[in-house]
Amino acid sequence: MNTKYSDLINQTYYFPQEEFKLNKDNLQFHNIDLMKLVEKYGTPLKFTYLPQISNNINKAKSWFRKSMEKNKYEAKYYYCYCTKSSHFEYIMNEAFKNNIHIETSSAFDINIVENLLENGKINKSTYVICNGFKRDQYVENIARLINNGHKNTIPIIDNYEELDLLQSQIKNKFKIGIRIAAEEEPKFEFYTSRLGIGYKNIVPFYKREIKENKKLELKMLHFFINTGINDNAYYWNELVKCIKVYVALKKECPTLDGLNIGGGFPIKNSLTFEYDYQYMIDEIINQIKIACEEAEVDVPNIFTEFGSFTVGESGGAIYQVLYQKQQNDREKWNMIDSSFITTLPDTWAINKRFIMLAVNRWNDTYERVLLGGMTCDSDDYYNSEQNMNAIYLPKYSKEKPLYIGFFNTGAYQETIGGYGGLHHCLIPQPKHILIDRDENGILATEVFSEQQTSEDVLKILGYGKNKN
Ligand SMILES: Cc1ncc(COP(=O)(O)O)c(C=O)c1O
Repeated sequence: MNTKYSDLINQTYYFPQEEFKLNKDNLQFHNIDLMKLVEKYGTPLKFTYLPQISNNINKAKSWFRKSMEKNKYEAKYYYCYCTKSSHFEYIMNEAFKNNIHIETSSAFDINIVENLLENGKINKSTYVICNGFKRDQYVENIARLINNGHKNTIPIIDNYEELDLLQSQIKNKFKIGIRIAAEEEPKFEFYTSRLGIGYKNIVPFYKREIKENKKLELKMLHFFINTGINDNAYYWNELVKCIKVYVALKKECPTLDGLNIGGGFPIKNSLTFEYDYQYMIDEIINQIKIACEEAEVDVPNIFTEFGSFTVGESGGAIYQVLYQKQQNDREKWNMIDSSFITTLPDTWAINKRFIMLAVNRWNDTYERVLLGGMTCDSDDYYNSEQNMNAIYLPKYSKEKPLYIGFFNTGAYQETIGGYGGLHHCLIPQPKHILIDRDENGILATEVFSEQQTSEDVLKILGYGKNKN
């Protein structure tokens, strides 16, 4: 009988895969020997494999290029990075090596844009697409950016009032976009997204407030389907509706030449993940082309704002199984040396699944377990994989420490987890390392941040503030 963990993985999945390989007993991720990281840095450990950011950006650019060529689509594609998926400088430094553009969602993002401009990471030709609900500070910052000469800034109007707020602070003529409020999936609690302006109101809004206004140049129509770019009736239906609005608006507005289809490319969340990116892009480009041809208007430049797709697959977390608690005949709890709530909050908040694999001991027999985090919150656990209702790992042994890895965790987890802040039961933020490769493919690692200390935490809590 095949009872080794490696047998289980081989029987359940196609393995090895592009980024996952085995070296004897240990897992390799993008040819990085994870046990070496564990030996060097200890656990719990978060890491970012920077080259994967550029890899994904270039994959998407090449898929769009191919689709545009195939469909004889005569306009351009602009890849924007949606900063809210990870705002860290090391992410920006890697992403902006690839001649891409930026999407912002709140006031401080503009300070980041200014910093990137100052440091030459982006330049005058970089599009800055400003999404989100805009009030005082955000409007002020956008206005400063435009007044200082960054002409490729495009605030996307999310509600009627923003137009006046922006105009009151921006001195000269400026570009704008309008966001369509998408209809939510039928199973959602409400019908229409709170973000943007309803389909039916877009053209009347343009005619009423933009058409004759010499200060405004409408350049972009924007939409974002909350549930992502998926091959289902809902997505195609929404896309077609948006294209119809684009065509109707384009007939009224000659300056309009951009369609922003938002973010929402999925990433690999399981070893069974299958998604035909090229097919989806072909279909999107094809639909836009057909609609524009029928209406006899030029096809728009396409903008995307991929967040998860840009950074998700660069991140990972490694934990040690500290101890096993057998709570009844069937339930064995492997206790990890950190907390899921702290380090992978989406697993707890929205039941998100990531790829989870043993890092070592692949030739040992396996068992079914539950994974428990160290907080006292009963919801601090992980108990199933994307494709099966259980977790299997090499058998716990006190003598042979077991390490487990969660992969493709690079998007949203730090901001939602409150990076560097206070965490449930004061379980500290783990050490975070950056992994890069030089032009010869040689790996280099550096510590981005050490594990949070008791001093860090007590300071936030105000201890010692009133000391003389
Ligand atoms: C307007 C907008 N664009 C892009 C994104 C990025 O989405 P994703 O990370 O799924 O690519 C979001 C995410 O919430 C968004 O609200």
